[in-house]
Amino acid sequence: MLNLQDMSAELAASYDLEPSLTLVDEMRDIYERVDRVLPEVEFAGYAPYIRAINRLKAERNAVILAHNYMTPQIYHGVADVVGDSLQLAIAATKVDAEVIVQCGVHFMAETSKILNPQKTVLIPDATAGCSLAASVTSADIARMRAEYPGAPVVSYVNTTAAVKAASDICCTSANAVQIVDAMEGDTVIMTPDGFLAQNVARESRKRVVYWQGSCIVHEQYTAAELREYRAHDPGLKIIAHPECQPEVAEEADYTGSTSGMIDWVRDNRPEKVMLVTECSMASNIADSVPDVEFAKPCNLCPYMKKITLEKILWSLHRMGEEVTVPAEHLEPARAAVERMIDLSQRLNV
Ligand code: 13P
Ligand code: SF4
Repeated sequence: MLNLQDMSAELAASYDLEPSLTLVDEMRDIYERVDRVLPEVEFAGYAPYIRAINRLKAERNAVILAHNYMTPQIYHGVADVVGDSLQLAIAATKVDAEVIVQCGVHFMAETSKILNPQKTVLIPDATAGCSLAASVTSADIARMRAEYPGAPVVSYVNTTAAVKAASDICCTSANAVQIVDAMEGDTVIMTPDGFLAQNVARESRKRVVYWQGSCIVHEQYTAAELREYRAHDPGLKIIAHPECQPEVAEEADYTGSTSGMIDWVRDNRPEKVMLVTECSMASNIADSVPDVEFAKPCNLCPYMKKITLEKILWSLHRMGEEVTVPAEHLEPARAAVERMIDLSQRLNV
């Protein structure tokens, strides 16, 4: 168990971590990408960590894969690859470095390990979970199979390795409709996200039966509140993640994966937009779309926010926490993830 006080003390004794405005000047290229959301004095506190992490990354032959929900200081300061779950899974298959530091939640690090069993995969905080991944077990998958004999099981990547291993194929929010449509038979079982499954069912040719898990971040948004925001601000564009309730997705001008949402803002340049998702998304793209105003509210993912610059430095310093996947799950889970990547590339999604 990580003792935060001991961690801070050991890091302070090993690296120069004093806040520094001089360092901010030396890192202008990075600071210019976050200056809309981070005051210079705040960045002065992050800069020494960014310097230490980037140096250590080179020494350890490590690469940092970071999800779109990471804070701006991680996303712009230390990440080598940023993206949605599908992009990170594909990036994990192409990594040359010996060490992968996964800045995201545990199922994402497990996916990287599944695709790179010979590499060292580290997660800066192993308790960074996910309400969806926690909602379903391989025994639940077996029960669903018994209820719908012969129906293929499509599991969202937001699942444990054990659940992936019990599934026929994985999907992400970027390719779910296409993957479901490509399955044989009339009925497809989707786990664990009930709302994603209902959103997929609206667009798919298949009958979709599903597990009732949900994301604690996206389930909070309601269609009524979105209608209220629109009534106050008729020009407001609203774009949502498909983990939201179907009524919320219907109310939105666009629904897509986290990277799909980023691309939509960059391509459409709305005057004012509300990103119905995790808060860091708007902060991470603010600098690249200076003409766009981001409307609040947004919700924080408490699991994603467990990953901090300090814990990333600790992770590289101590080479921990190493992510492992039980041998019996490794091959079948890899087959389910690789099927998804292959199919997605064939279908061009
Ligand atoms: P994306 O695959 O769209 O990045 O979503 C992952 C996630 O956990 C969203 O809550
Ligand atoms: Fe899981 Fe929701 Fe957090 Fe994504 S935002 S990691 S789905 S809890």
